Amino acid sequence: MSKRIPAEPAPIGIGQASGQTQFDVLIIGSGLAGMSLALRLAENQQVALLTKGEVLDAASAWAQGGIAAVLDGADSAENHIRDTHIAGAGLCHDDSVRFVVENGKRAVEWLIEQGVPFTKDLNNQAELHLTREGGHSHRRIVHAADATGRAVQKTLVQRLKSHPNIQILEHQIAVDLITSKRLGHLSGKRCYGAYVFDKSLGRVLTYGARSTVLATGGAGKVYLYTTNPDVATGDGVAMAWRAGCAVANMEFMQFHPTCLYHPAAKSYLITEAVRGEGGLLKIPPGYDGAGHRFMPDHDQRAELAPRDVVARAIDFEMKKRGLDFVHLDISHKPVEFLRAHFPNIYEKCRGLGIDISKDPIPVVPAAHYTCGGVVTDLNGRTEVEHLYAVGEVSCTGLHGANRLASNSLLECLVFAEAVRNNIAVHGVIELPPLPPWDESRVSDADEEVILSHNWDELRRFMWDYVGIVRTNKRLERAMHRIQLLNAEINEYYANFRVTNDLVELRNLLQTAELIVRSAMLRQETRGLHYSLDYPETLSTALDTVLKP
Ligand code: FAD
Ligand code: SIN
Repeated sequence: MSKRIPAEPAPIGIGQASGQTQFDVLIIGSGLAGMSLALRLAENQQVALLTKGEVLDAASAWAQGGIAAVLDGADSAENHIRDTHIAGAGLCHDDSVRFVVENGKRAVEWLIEQGVPFTKDLNNQAELHLTREGGHSHRRIVHAADATGRAVQKTLVQRLKSHPNIQILEHQIAVDLITSKRLGHLSGKRCYGAYVFDKSLGRVLTYGARSTVLATGGAGKVYLYTTNPDVATGDGVAMAWRAGCAVANMEFMQFHPTCLYHPAAKSYLITEAVRGEGGLLKIPPGYDGAGHRFMPDHDQRAELAPRDVVARAIDFEMKKRGLDFVHLDISHKPVEFLRAHFPNIYEKCRGLGIDISKDPIPVVPAAHYTCGGVVTDLNGRTEVEHLYAVGEVSCTGLHGANRLASNSLLECLVFAEAVRNNIAVHGVIELPPLPPWDESRVSDADEEVILSHNWDELRRFMWDYVGIVRTNKRLERAMHRIQLLNAEINEYYANFRVTNDLVELRNLLQTAELIVRSAMLRQETRGLHYSLDYPETLSTALDTVLKP
């Protein structure tokens, strides 16, 4: 049982003042970024770990392939750095890439110390098994079979639940940050905590905090087809934007090439490690070119090209031949190998009537990872004082125009440590009295159907107009629709009591607007942003930075 804040919040953290609950540190999000930060901070701070669902509802728990780090003597930091830059299409910040790669080994060791059961080398149980994924020149992915995220998160959550300095607050969704701007202060840009909607109480609570951390993950739910869990609605980016933070590179939404295509499977990823271990992409039977292995036609790295290249190649073949899916075939590997390396995928597919030791797997690309986000420095600091961003919500400069596979969990770990170090030095401030949430002017919504209708419409036109291949015309169409929906939802938000769905839809719309604005500003093709109107890559690589 995780701890929940009681109906009448009792003093925790640094206690209660003026009717508000206060903490040393409020972490919003219980993915790997939030959990690992909470554990590190709790050595000497009182921490609240807030999450809008159950504590394990996060992309982190769904991660399959693993964590990239230089652990093999034949590999080197320079190799990992080079691979990250190549995947990032010239836009990665070298200081960030070096910082993450050089701290990679220590981050993995920290997880081992916490007790994460990583898969060992079958031939040498003293060594970790390292797998390979697209864009990596060496085997360097440490993993727990094909369910790395679940193994990591389940291990960490046990530690969190037994820690006296950590309070886990489930089913509470942060609505907005409490900033000096919001409080009407004339100078300074500071964060003092967040307004949080408690779903079971049905009201908005005021949480003051000396330091506030956004660890809210990505925004895959902006798109109709995604590998992401339902919680990935861009809340952190939208809240940070409203609070006055710069947001960068939002046009770089990563599409994973291989999401399972089956009517009974919602958002099920087929890890890139399947291609890393020899899986081949082919045209399905019944179509022109049936059985043809098409990746070598697109890139000499074939199935192991970076993700943007493979996703675009699949998209091209699907559109050219009118396919609903392509095939990922690893049936040439022995069944024992497949069951040892991919036990969950093997069972999942078997349950759907696909024996991957005999049959190819039908796959399609789907929105997977938000490379852009809230701009931070190497300490995880945003432009608002005492507000940090860590994990997928952030834009640290690591991923550039396309994230290298398995660099995300690594970034969560390395930047969580950086944030901990910074809070240890700068995290002591006086909290002013914070006004409670204004409930006086709101009544219950009259037409909830508007929310579900607008939600569906947004996700469909983002898929159709702001997907793998973009044009100016499509972006303009998307922006026009976003403006119409924004007007409707802002009016709704001003008049009715908040609900979880309203908060999420408002944030999805805000995030979609930032994605389209960034895509319109990038007048070139680079990494994940592929424009038919601007097919060239410019010689100078620049971030798309938006300021509120
Ligand atoms: P998340 O793990 O997404 O956690 C976000 C948290 O914030 C959730 O707890 C959510 O409920 C909470 N939250 C959001 N908004 C609010 C709010 N308003 N109020 C309160 N709580 C909120 N990366 C790799 O490096 N290796 C892999 O093998 C890999 N495999 C993947 C497989 C899948 C299927 C997916 C979807 C992603 C994969 N990724 C992988 C990417 C990686 O998992 C994520 O980028 C990473 O886990 C993000 O961690 P995070 O802590 O930033 O966010
Ligand atoms: C995968 O296992 O293919 C996902 C890895 C990642 O997103 O980094």
